[in-house]
Amino acid sequence: MFKWAQLLRQDNLTREITSPDGRTVCRFAIKSGAICYQVMRDHKTIIDYSRLGFNLSGEAPLRRNLRLVRTKNRIKNEKIELQWGEDRFIDNNYHESAFYLTESTKNPRIFTVRFRVFNDAVAFRYEIPPQPKFQRLTITEELTEFNVSPNATTWKIPAYQPDRYEYNYEKSYIYNLISSVHTPLTISTPAGYFLSIHEAALYNYGSMTLKLNDNNILAADITPLSDHTKAHVNLPFETPWRLIMIADSALALTANRVMYALNPAPTMDFSWVHTLKFIGIWWAMYVGEWTWAPGERHGATTQHAIEYINAAVRLGISGLLIEGWNDGWEGNWLENGIHNSFTTPTPDFDFDAVARYARRQNIELVGHHETVGFVDNYESQLEDAYNYYAARGVRFIKTGYAGSMMTINGRHEYHHSQIGVNHYQKTIELAARKHICLDIHEPIKGTGIERTFPNLLSREGARGQEYEGGAISPSHACFLPYTRLLSGGMDYTPGIFDIENSVKRLSTTITRQLAYYVTIYSGMTMAADRPFMYEERFPDLFTFIRRVPTTYERTVPLAGEIGEYYVVARESDDHEWYIGGVTNESSRHVILDFNFLDSNTYLATIYADAPDAHYRDNPYAHQILKRRITRRDNLDIYLAPGGGFAIILSPLIS
Ligand code: NOJ
Repeated sequence: MFKWAQLLRQDNLTREITSPDGRTVCRFAIKSGAICYQVMRDHKTIIDYSRLGFNLSGEAPLRRNLRLVRTKNRIKNEKIELQWGEDRFIDNNYHESAFYLTESTKNPRIFTVRFRVFNDAVAFRYEIPPQPKFQRLTITEELTEFNVSPNATTWKIPAYQPDRYEYNYEKSYIYNLISSVHTPLTISTPAGYFLSIHEAALYNYGSMTLKLNDNNILAADITPLSDHTKAHVNLPFETPWRLIMIADSALALTANRVMYALNPAPTMDFSWVHTLKFIGIWWAMYVGEWTWAPGERHGATTQHAIEYINAAVRLGISGLLIEGWNDGWEGNWLENGIHNSFTTPTPDFDFDAVARYARRQNIELVGHHETVGFVDNYESQLEDAYNYYAARGVRFIKTGYAGSMMTINGRHEYHHSQIGVNHYQKTIELAARKHICLDIHEPIKGTGIERTFPNLLSREGARGQEYEGGAISPSHACFLPYTRLLSGGMDYTPGIFDIENSVKRLSTTITRQLAYYVTIYSGMTMAADRPFMYEERFPDLFTFIRRVPTTYERTVPLAGEIGEYYVVARESDDHEWYIGGVTNESSRHVILDFNFLDSNTYLATIYADAPDAHYRDNPYAHQILKRRITRRDNLDIYLAPGGGFAIILSPLIS
């Protein structure tokens, strides 16, 4: 009797969770039996009351007549060590409240909404336990809203389009988001804060896109399955974390690592994983010198592979990617992908001999599986294909899912649907068991799962340099750090020195190609041009590519504005600093303040645009300068239109 009276009084209630530094407050509320939340920063509302809940198939919606049964609070303050990445240590510092809810109906169901409030983020997820009359459910709609000001500015790429995430970022207003856009969705609010709405730990669920709902509020739009539902799940089930990153500036947003903190630590041994730099039988295909398909100009021949292995040894690069080595590239490969064999080399490629030679030379081969989205075909060969590589000592695979949809179980599904998410996960877990690392192209977006599965070293998942030749402009790489890269590393295929080639003319200066190694982090990083460009044409510039690390101790963003420019410094494990900066179509001077350094004196090697460099008509003009630098110094660096710079700071041992 008493208990029910208490519950009734709770019909309208509010609970607050405050961040450890006190600046961010999340308010969870039940209003007339419906649940919602609100987020404030410095007492200003940045997300106004937003609805929570689900519509289900064959079941009443899970969003009304709700009562709070119990609240459980927790405080966490720890440092997490990541195996590789932009920062070796990240903070996991939050105040948590889990709200255990029930329905005031005849057959009440129960579920929990768990909130974590960090200094620089709010995250929450739904947790649904199994119940006698509720063991399995089909979600037709997740009702989560993110009620930001309609007048806030945002930078978007469209969802449900044939090229997946590979679009140019466009500035817009929230009130214009009438069709779905991908996350991370970066937002500048009228109160002057920067947010990015994203998700963490995406497993067994459709990926979250965002659009205005019928109330004109920004809301989750979960990628549908071909049966028009959003997900079929067995209970217990937890949704991914809904993540709102919060910062005082766009630059500060780029240092947000909460996504990783929301993912659990690995449960398997991953000590065998290491990051990799590699060249590839690759760009020669893009510029038309070689072909993926067998024939006179076939790229993946035994002879070319041996030559490239020798080149990798001379260049001091540890890996070699070989694309087009297997049966299935003949004719229109995008249509014929269903015939790809992942265990049959073309007749002119002696895989065993190449693998033996690579092992003798200490070069890691990066295998290649282009599925063209024919996942049924790939899954039927998956175990054999990974065994085939593992038996030959191949410990890295680049996978690809070109094609606008996946074919799974004979149906066309979005790459980002629950079924697509589960397929990618299957490959990651199988690869982990076989001690193989992955670089997934046409991937599912990053949600920080590489903390749990560090063998997932990189992804593509945005326009990369393969789009050069007209489809990207210099501003693209100035959007990425503030948008796509908030979801983790990207294989952008940097290091193309052959800028003026006739097939894929690049919008870059040559030193900008070095900057990309620092501004676009990737655990598997390509030196994407052909070896002669490095050995014969620009050996001095190549020195930077050889030296730049693939994992860092610490990252310090230095300067930037969304779509304008970005400058970042990263410290290696031997206490060198690598700095990269890129600008859009406009030239600019950046004053570097070295106050992030310790008390050492450093020798700076500076790779910068020459005063007359220009991405359009003078892309090769550059200078390499040496300076002594201490933490008291400033340095004025010039970036040409479409240009960029890179710096190595080596401590001088006095
Ligand atoms: C698209 C990938 O992004 C690219 O790197 C790859 O070479 C082609 N697909 C062919 O697999």
